[in-house]
Amino acid sequence: MVFSKQHPNETRRQVLQGQIDSRKSSEERNRLGQFATPYPLALEIAGYIKSLLSANQLPPRFADPSIGSGSFYSAATEVFGRDGLENALGIELDHAFADAADSLWSQSGLQTIRGDFTQVIARKDCPPAPSMILANPPYVRHHHIKQEDKLRLQSLVLQRTGMKVSGLSGLYVYFLMLATAWMEKGGIAAWLIPSEFMDVNYGSVLREFLSKNVTLIRLHRFDPTEVQFNDALVTSAILVLENTPPPANHLCEFTFGGTLEEPVISEKIEIPELQESRKWSSFPRHVANDRMGSNRGQGPCINDFFRIQRGIATGCNEFFIMERKKAVELGIPPSFLRPILPSPRHLSETVIESDDDGYPKLSQQLCLVDCNLPEDLLTTKHPMLWKYLQTAESLDIKKGYILRNRTPWYKQEQRQSAPYLCTYMGRGTGGKLPFRFIWNRSQAVATNLYLMLTPIRGLATMLAAYPEKESQIHGWLGGLTGSELRSEGRVYGGGLNKIEPKELGRISAETLTELFPKLEIHSSKQMNLFV
Ligand SMILES: C[S@@+](CC[C@H](N)C(=O)[O-])C[C@H]1O[C@@H](n2cnc3c(N)ncnc32)[C@H](O)[C@@H]1O
Repeated sequence: MVFSKQHPNETRRQVLQGQIDSRKSSEERNRLGQFATPYPLALEIAGYIKSLLSANQLPPRFADPSIGSGSFYSAATEVFGRDGLENALGIELDHAFADAADSLWSQSGLQTIRGDFTQVIARKDCPPAPSMILANPPYVRHHHIKQEDKLRLQSLVLQRTGMKVSGLSGLYVYFLMLATAWMEKGGIAAWLIPSEFMDVNYGSVLREFLSKNVTLIRLHRFDPTEVQFNDALVTSAILVLENTPPPANHLCEFTFGGTLEEPVISEKIEIPELQESRKWSSFPRHVANDRMGSNRGQGPCINDFFRIQRGIATGCNEFFIMERKKAVELGIPPSFLRPILPSPRHLSETVIESDDDGYPKLSQQLCLVDCNLPEDLLTTKHPMLWKYLQTAESLDIKKGYILRNRTPWYKQEQRQSAPYLCTYMGRGTGGKLPFRFIWNRSQAVATNLYLMLTPIRGLATMLAAYPEKESQIHGWLGGLTGSELRSEGRVYGGGLNKIEPKELGRISAETLTELFPKLEIHSSKQMNLFV
């Protein structure tokens, strides 16, 4: 969409926006959820909404619940014309932005209300309902929302929509549901929000709301590999809805890549299918979609061949994990020490060789203090270990959840070392893999910064008989593509990918059975087939 002239104040707005942004660090802006919508994107969204609103024959009464400097308002006046908006309202918590919006736009008809949107619409004198909402709500994560605010927000959403939002939800979830409950019936809204709600557990309430309470018209996800706008948008989605329950046989358009106007791929999905799907980012189903599941419920998958568990949660790594040298100096008996791998940040190797005594061949060898003997026995039989354990008192670590619930408090989870590990958190788009697979030939266990993969059934039998194939298995794990891993995992705002044991287990292992065609046969009698 090409627009001939820009509102003269738009240039001023961009300057003011830059000035206000520069007064805060990017961490602070992150905490406050202050990332402005790039103007070309705001224009594109406003243009799309205009076409939908005219079809509904509703007069454009504009609102932005977190107006910032007014990128969306500026775009709306451009698209609808200077006198085209019947009414315009912006709400803003930050005084600097509210002042900017006021000074830029009050003359052209924007009313700016200073305050917290979620409180403004809860007031008796709540402003009149808009017919169009263009919003890029604050991306404030749940751990930055105070408990009392969460409870207030949850109860307000419950009262307005009848739905109970998870306490793990970011502020945008409350914004979207409350604003929709506030707006006119039949009104149209566009939301620029993090795409993680499409897959994560806490997003299920929002997904239910979008598939039952409103008519979801469009859900567009940007392609993280296309450099567009800024980093905050890499993991964002544009959601467009009409505030009416979905008509029978409604089809919602899912698009991916390119722009809202010209997406690379698109698919229309029926509501029942959406309601059944636990992962909305796998739509549109197309190879170009980076998150389309590799396994569509058929064929072998990783958990047919591996038991996948999170590594050990020690309760306090700083206390229970130490350099092996230090443990010797402290006189802790070797029988209470287990080799353990360093965190993925400090491990560049992808193959860990073993020393004769099972410790990993690494320049820095670490051990885990682990003992299940009762305290009174330690005081007499193992005084040096007891002396070390007593230092926990001054560190105040025993109040932690794990230590409080463990008897004795220094006993670790009993987990065997696993030959394969996955670093389950990481960044990586396009061809770059978000996670690494490590072949652990030592007896070292791993902390919960890793997923531990232990071969089972036919694969365990095969490797017991033919250990030389272990490296091929490692090669196969390392050959999983970024899109296979991302398709089952989840991506958080800022581009951090994570994969849970169950999600890793769901990835297709079809290529493993191609590599070892007889692997599907789980009986050890078939061993000769692997030769
Ligand atoms: C992601 S920015 C978007 C700003 C603007 N709508 C845009 O698209 O450029 C979110 C804005 O919400 C404001 N904000 C944060 N919490 C708010 C709240 N509870 N009520 C209203 N505004 C809020 C922030 O100060 C920030 O200006």
